[in-house]
Amino acid sequence: MSVKPSVGAEDVVKVEFDNGVAWVTLNRPDKRNCMNPTLNARMFGVLDDLEADDRCQVMVLTGAGTSFSAGMDLKEYFRETEEKGINAVRQAQRDAYGWWRRLRWFEKPTIAMVNGWCFGGAFAPLFACDLAICADEAQFGLSEINWGILPGGGATKVVEQLMSQRQAMYYILTGEMLDGKKAAELGLVNESVPLADLKTRVRKLCDTLLEKNPIMLKAAKDSFKRVINMTYDEAEAYLVVRQESANFLDKTQGRKEGIRQFIDEKSYKPGLASYKK
Ligand code: ACO
Repeated sequence: MSVKPSVGAEDVVKVEFDNGVAWVTLNRPDKRNCMNPTLNARMFGVLDDLEADDRCQVMVLTGAGTSFSAGMDLKEYFRETEEKGINAVRQAQRDAYGWWRRLRWFEKPTIAMVNGWCFGGAFAPLFACDLAICADEAQFGLSEINWGILPGGGATKVVEQLMSQRQAMYYILTGEMLDGKKAAELGLVNESVPLADLKTRVRKLCDTLLEKNPIMLKAAKDSFKRVINMTYDEAEAYLVVRQESANFLDKTQGRKEGIRQFIDEKSYKPGLASYKK
């Protein structure tokens, strides 16, 4: 089942639903799913639609064919918009940065399923997803230096956040690729598995997330991202307030129910599994 296109009729992004999971596929395989202005505008609409759609409890972002995404479309995103002038450049940047930001703060848990090439600008949606699982066969690269620019659009910040300084600087300056196993070793993704097992592994991870309280998943992921730039004391205070506001929003009173099933009913152990929603 697919959602209707939000922007234009081009099927540059495919959305399929399967038991609580929305599989979102960047769908320009002939162009290795590089991000042109049409795709960027379309992703904005897709994220809007999915936030309001109960069929999406977890979102997976992946790419059609051999690529996750070959980064920005050098022809349509850079050359053609630059020919139109600075206003067109800013508009293109707003759309691209906009959907990545939207994805970073998406209401539901998100997983990047990196099936193949992942270059440059593609590090932004990779980072924006809460979790990332890749194929051993995937290839990652900050290729910007290879064609004469620095890793912008957040990509430099992404590796500053996820890698050690030595490793980040190495890949920024050399433009060398790293495969899936290396990406997992350096912390760019959570885990790397053979391509043949990738979808099964991601589905299993989705099923784990689907067992959890959705209000608390959103509160937990936002809290983690917010405390990164806080002092310890600020984080402590923020987390108390955030927990209390999440309790208020949780009409199922999951927290009380979780305690009840453990202490009174003795039907599960929180150290070993989730309470029944
Ligand atoms: N921008 C524009 N077109 C692209 C891009 C891109 N980023 N990536 C691939 N394409 C196009 C190719 O021009 C080609 O188009 P054509 O069929 O009209 O000739 C088509 O996609 C297929 O590409 P190939 O290079 O033939 O595919 P192959 O599988 O051999 O190689 C690879 C894949 C390695 C990803 C290669 O296409 C490549 O190096 N792409 C550019 C990667 C990159 O550096 N991206 C920019 C990162 S920096 C940034 O995002 C700011």
